[in-house]
Amino acid sequence: MHIFQPYPIDLLELNPFEKIGAEWAALTAGNNEKVNAMTISWGGMGVLWGKNVVFVFVRDSRYTKEFMDREDNFSLTFFPKEFGKSALKYLGGISGRNEDKIKNARLHIAYRNDIPYIDEGNFVLTCKKMSATFIDAKDFIDSSIKDNWYKDGDMHTMYVGEIKEILAR
Ligand SMILES: Cc1cc2nc3c(=O)[nH]c(=O)nc-3n(C[C@H](O)[C@H](O)[C@H](O)COP(=O)(O)O)c2cc1C
Repeated sequence: MHIFQPYPIDLLELNPFEKIGAEWAALTAGNNEKVNAMTISWGGMGVLWGKNVVFVFVRDSRYTKEFMDREDNFSLTFFPKEFGKSALKYLGGISGRNEDKIKNARLHIAYRNDIPYIDEGNFVLTCKKMSATFIDAKDFIDSSIKDNWYKDGDMHTMYVGEIKEILAR
């Protein structure tokens, strides 16, 4: 069991290209009974509606989407480089519909103010859901997006979450 210290990190130090795009994150949502997590490498951090926010993109087919839609909060967990990527590959390759993948990836859930995150992480953003927007192919201006990413019609929903706390250790 690790103790997290809320860390007054300078948001300017947070590089979403590195943190999300290169290191990847575990997007986690659920309640005190059932939690699911999946790997993401798309998304961002920024400022919207007067808040510091993250935005993540979850396809219709993901079991995690059910949790994202049901719950008011979610988290992003980042892992130390030494931890490697095998657990994130597992969370990103197997669906929690079919097994307890958090356990099978040898990960554990912890909670911060009732928001679940992955205890093995060293950096966590806890977020309050602000909006959920279905990404509609009719809005694409660059027509290659549909062909490259949505041939099977498995569309993304964009969730914007207010960053409530940044935990680091
Ligand atoms: C590196 C990596 C990045 C991923 N990024 C996303 C993403 O941003 N959005 C998404 O919907 N799926 C993404 N996935 C796929 C999901 O993590 C994967 O489908 C997962 O098994 C879904 O699990 P679930 O059904 O338990 O929610 C990614 C997978 C990997 C390996």
